[in-house]
Amino acid sequence: MTATRPVVLSGIQPSGRLTLGNYLGAIKNWVPLSATHDCYYMLVDLHAITVRQEPAVLRDRCLEFIALYIACGLDPARNVLFVQSHVAAHARLAWVLNCYTQMGELNRMTQFKDKSAKNVDNINAGLFDYPVLMAADILLYDATGVPVGDDQKQHLELTRDVAIRFNNAHGSKQAPVFVVPEPMIPPVGARIMGLQEPTAKMSKSGFAETDAIYLLDPPDSITRKVKRAVTDLGTEVRFDLKEKPGVSNLMSILSATTGESFDSIVERFNGQGYGKLKAAVADAVVECLKPVQAHYAELRADEAGLIAVLRDGARRASTVADATLQRVHAALGFIPE
Ligand code: TRP
Repeated sequence: MTATRPVVLSGIQPSGRLTLGNYLGAIKNWVPLSATHDCYYMLVDLHAITVRQEPAVLRDRCLEFIALYIACGLDPARNVLFVQSHVAAHARLAWVLNCYTQMGELNRMTQFKDKSAKNVDNINAGLFDYPVLMAADILLYDATGVPVGDDQKQHLELTRDVAIRFNNAHGSKQAPVFVVPEPMIPPVGARIMGLQEPTAKMSKSGFAETDAIYLLDPPDSITRKVKRAVTDLGTEVRFDLKEKPGVSNLMSILSATTGESFDSIVERFNGQGYGKLKAAVADAVVECLKPVQAHYAELRADEAGLIAVLRDGARRASTVADATLQRVHAALGFIPE
């Protein structure tokens, strides 16, 4: 609570591989925040095991993710980069918050419903409890802003409800126990959708390999995927999410990778057929990912260096998280450790 700068925190599950959507819709927008905020960015490995993971793959992927976070511009000197399981306070606060969350509230979560439908043979208690652990992630750091996708809005609402409930039970107006966070959701048009299914977000565990561009895809595969992207039968280039979700998505990608405005894109490509637009998008994505991939290769080769970054991040995160946990325990009447 003594932080002088506002705090932002976000996390991505190390399940699947990071996509262009994760980069343009999330990580790239996290980078400039460190100028004005204390920034905490996690790999949420505890969340990832709500769905079965292969241990060797998970370990490798966590190292890949952290190298990609850095390669995408998150400097470990300016951001606290860490793995959720390294900071014990997450699981400990989640337990406390479990006792302040109603079964009915968790039952209403759409992500739980979706994921249970997809994992009928493993509807575990962790999957049900997932939003409470997420609330703990956020509340431990007194985060004021949480950059997340639209799909996480409901979890943020729950976090706010639980924080307010706990504050009402155990805090005073002058000294609330928790800071109540706000979601930071990117505007429509800044969101990157699937190439094959442009009405759903580009997902790292999506249904088709060709639906997503992965950050480590080689140039020829990027070009192939963009050329096969779903559009429509016309030739008209305009931003229209309802009538032209595929073309609009290509415009979003081009604009996010090059900075070109929608107006200028329309002027250059309208009426020319979609081939030219796709070629420009493919080139722009390849160019945008080239430096990221080169930096990644260097970072990933130094595994000890990556582990040192994570240890340092966990140490810095723990200092803040442990203090919050002690504040919560004190409010509950637990004997100080
Ligand atoms: N549930 C988030 C997602 O699937 C990931 C996440 C876990 C998260 N803990 C968080 C995001 C805390 C923001 C803050 O995208």
